[in-house]
Amino acid sequence: MNSNDPTSSLAARILSAAANQLYIDGEWVASSSGEQLESINPATGETIAHVANGNAADVDRAVAAARRALHGPWRDTTPYERQAIILKLADLVDQHFDALCLLDSMDMGAPLSRLRANSRKRALGRLRFYAGMATAIHGNTIGNSAPGKVFTYTMREPIGVVAGIIPWNAPMTSAIWKIGPVLATGCTMVLKPAEQASLSCLMLAELMAQAGVPPGVVNVVTGVGEITGAALAGHPDVNKVAFTGSHAVGQSIVRASAGNLKRVSLELGGKSPDIVFADADLDKAVPGAAMGVFGNTGQVCCAGTRLFVERKIYDEFVQRVAQFGQQLRVGNGQDPDVEIGPLVSKDQLERVLDYIDIGRREGARTISGGERMTEGNLANGYFVRPTVFGDIEDGMRIATEEIFGPVVCAIPFDTIDEVEQRANATAFGLGSGVWTRDINKAQRLSRSLHAGSVWVNCYNLMDPAVPFGGYGLSGYGREGGVEHLDEYLQTKAVWINAT
Ligand code: NAI
Ligand code: MG
Repeated sequence: MNSNDPTSSLAARILSAAANQLYIDGEWVASSSGEQLESINPATGETIAHVANGNAADVDRAVAAARRALHGPWRDTTPYERQAIILKLADLVDQHFDALCLLDSMDMGAPLSRLRANSRKRALGRLRFYAGMATAIHGNTIGNSAPGKVFTYTMREPIGVVAGIIPWNAPMTSAIWKIGPVLATGCTMVLKPAEQASLSCLMLAELMAQAGVPPGVVNVVTGVGEITGAALAGHPDVNKVAFTGSHAVGQSIVRASAGNLKRVSLELGGKSPDIVFADADLDKAVPGAAMGVFGNTGQVCCAGTRLFVERKIYDEFVQRVAQFGQQLRVGNGQDPDVEIGPLVSKDQLERVLDYIDIGRREGARTISGGERMTEGNLANGYFVRPTVFGDIEDGMRIATEEIFGPVVCAIPFDTIDEVEQRANATAFGLGSGVWTRDINKAQRLSRSLHAGSVWVNCYNLMDPAVPFGGYGLSGYGREGGVEHLDEYLQTKAVWINAT
């Protein structure tokens, strides 16, 4: 089998059979809705598959399966057994890695070459990291004030049934960021992929079955957010929602969680500042800042979309970022030379073009880009030219709202006091960047920036061992690091009177 070629692999089966493929209790079943959704390749506008349009009854079935699995033999597996399952799954993901990347590329447009390069660490590496973490979960022994021989210790127990609701901008990676901690901690899950890009999640379900993940431990229900997502968020038998997506849906999930006081972790979007001082190594800062916002066609939660540049280098630097953007090879992500793919969908294309219009109407100056690309065979896809806006006022919508496209607002500043205050003048707080050779500036801003990550002389680096998450409207909870497992565990205190 050539796992690169979806027509001769497991991926082919997923592509052709996805319409009848909800993965519930270890079996592939059809949705009780009888309805289907189209999966569209955003580079061509072509329908590549149909997936099941799950409904609330499907969610009920999947949650019931997850609940049974939680109280079944899974409960008594040792950390070492769960570790072995995760490692087996990682080997299978490794074996089918190119096909998984290809499914994502076809489904949501990202360049295959970038997916292969990034997901090796961000998805596969992370799965192996969680395998290690499975055996590192432990409680404490605590001295206490009780008289006599009363012994106190804590146990870390799985939170229970998790709803994993993920977006489309990095499907395989996002799925693994939920699957890993679920398996490591002994939770169970219903995973709901985004309707725009479900295929790699279905393939992961098949690989989980092959890896020996017991039936019901991870279930996959495809469908639209307002139906399947909302049914999960409000479900009385779900103990936790792990959500990645827009802040508006994050807020609706918090509201829906109130009924049974679900635990919620939210990895939402942002309007991240990327700050370039005149003393920076500009040869590194130009590509760093440009890819920090154009990478994945700007569909990155921590994209550095507010590019603050010290005034004395502003014109030169912004021109260089614009040129860098214009030189990126934009096209069908399945073409090996392409660096920037299309936006995920027609909706997203319209949304981004709307923001570009809004920016112009607000008085921003288009330094480069600012239009759809329709040359040659780009015409049927959802391509937007990497766009740089100047003459930005802080209150403009393009400078305050998440666009989720290849659009950057370039903003001049004069002093560190000024940029510190303006960078923090946002309700979001996910990523932030600082480019400088001055350690004092770097340290000062690392402390004062209101964001879950600060990248100094780099941008958007990730590692399985490093926690990632937001401040403010960018959400709460952390993915990555030891902190990640805390989101899936609850603490029990045990008192034993041995007198
Ligand atoms: P979304 O937040 O609506 O979708 C993310 C996930 O939530 C999908 O699986 C969706 O089906 C589900 N969902 C939608 N409505 C739901 C509900 N009421 N209850 C439960 N689950 C629900 O994002 P969408 O509509 O795809 O994109 C719109 C904008 O959201 C983007 O332009 C971008 O600004 C932002 N976004 C941010 C992401 C991030 O990683 N921070 C990822 C995706 C979108
Ligand atoms: Mg939505």
